[in-house]
Amino acid sequence: MDLLHELLTGAPARIDAIVDLESLSALESELLGKKSLIASTRRGLGQLPPDERPKVGAQVHEAQRRLEDLLAARRELLERMAEDRLLAGDRVDVTLEGYEPSVGRHHLLTQTVDEVVDIFAGLGYRVASGPEVELAWYNFDALNTPPTHPARLESDTLYVEYGEEPDEMLLRTHTSPMQARYMEQHEPPVYVVVPGRTFRADALDATHSPVFYQIEGLAVDEHITFGDLKGTLAHFAREFFGPDRTIRLLPNFFPFTEPSAEMHVSCFACDGSGCRVCSGSGWIELMGCGMVDPNVLEAVGYDPQHISGFAFGMGAERIAMVRHGINHIRHFYENDVRVLRQFT
Ligand code: DAH
Repeated sequence: MDLLHELLTGAPARIDAIVDLESLSALESELLGKKSLIASTRRGLGQLPPDERPKVGAQVHEAQRRLEDLLAARRELLERMAEDRLLAGDRVDVTLEGYEPSVGRHHLLTQTVDEVVDIFAGLGYRVASGPEVELAWYNFDALNTPPTHPARLESDTLYVEYGEEPDEMLLRTHTSPMQARYMEQHEPPVYVVVPGRTFRADALDATHSPVFYQIEGLAVDEHITFGDLKGTLAHFAREFFGPDRTIRLLPNFFPFTEPSAEMHVSCFACDGSGCRVCSGSGWIELMGCGMVDPNVLEAVGYDPQHISGFAFGMGAERIAMVRHGINHIRHFYENDVRVLRQFT
């Protein structure tokens, strides 16, 4: 009984000193478990004289109840504290500013190509695409380019090892081969634009890249004239660079057009008076064009007596550089987001 009394006197301080639930459980089994003083006393009750048993039994019972109450109170407190700690750690400060996720956007080149294609789609043109690895036949021969033409040299054209002849297959040097491919597959009238990637054995400099994009255009129908070509390109220039633009066509040469021309647009920066954008000339060269050479029409089985057409081809990087004042073609390929983000 003395021991029990001692136990009860010391218990509150011991229980209050416990700060975690695990230690509390350990203490609980020490105080109330099988090896505890309470348990052994209860087991010894039978050895007491019968008249003492009820009194001692009641004291043991009372001691056990006291201890259980103390332990339960402490457990409740510790559980509440643990929960508070958890909630404090989990708290969300809804007044904090969120992170803005970075959103993907179309690359400037894609935007440019899409815009050009849209302008011609508005005139009723279809859109087509062709292979980047191309037969020399479509890239050169079908386009009236003689076997001796310098563009065929390995210094200009990247050949692919395939087939019998070393110069049979290549990476297309322009999108013009799709003129022949498309006409082969379609009867006139043909109105089509062909955006695509093109390749040349060029070293990278401010305006050249071994890989670049072109947009080809082809209109073949009855009674197509050079006037149609000029009107169409003038419309394009106004849509792309603004309503005040005018164009001029200067003589040039391409094997697949006759006559051939280069198309210039009046400078949108100085309105033609001459500035840095147009190198003082008031004009900016945008693309090659011309009337489809009868030999090209014949190569695809069209009858040049009844059918005529015009074609044009522009560099997508070039027209984007002109319009946005971009001074080096590498900006299209380095994918520096600080550059690309400026064009959204
Ligand atoms: N294919 C030519 C080039 O890459 C550009 C060109 C010129 C395309 C005249 C044409 C055209 O369709 O008619 O330089």
